Amino acid sequence: MKLPIYLYGSKVLRENAQEADLSDREKLTQLIADMEETLASADGCGLAAPQVGVPVRVLIVDGRDLTDAYPYLKDFKRVMINPVVVEESRETCDYSEGCLSVPGIYAEVRRPERIRVEYLNGDFEKVTEEFDKFACRMIQHELDHLDGKMFVDRVAPIRRKMISKKLMNISHGKISAHYKTRLD
Ligand code: NI
Repeated sequence: MKLPIYLYGSKVLRENAQEADLSDREKLTQLIADMEETLASADGCGLAAPQVGVPVRVLIVDGRDLTDAYPYLKDFKRVMINPVVVEESRETCDYSEGCLSVPGIYAEVRRPERIRVEYLNGDFEKVTEEFDKFACRMIQHELDHLDGKMFVDRVAPIRRKMISKKLMNISHGKISAHYKTRLD
């Protein structure tokens, strides 16, 4: 089922998401299927459960539509349940980010270049994996959502000032997006 995406300004996006309850796999599997459907129909490359109003630690990333810019993302898709960053590089890099909860705004953000993450995949198998380049960036962006953070919190102050009006408009629902949105 396609779900509405909560916009910047919604309380659920600022919560510290709970660990996913592994005793109810059926419910989690359904949530993941709904998130995948929602992400695909919104043409996004990543979605965290809080963005569909469910404050639990589940995220998906899908780079398969980004292969023009990043050919190595050809087969890149991950489902992560209860992900934990166990290592991050001291080296940082800058990429422009956007977010389905913040339509129409893109801004450069600096983050660690590489991370190692422990998580359960969509089959509930434990995985430890290292990511770099844009794959790493997509995951870091979604991980932030699980801690109630958003990429616009991390942009340089001068840029932040430039987008503040737009952010205000989004938080009042004054935007147009080609997918269904909601504010709480
Ligand atoms: Ni986002």
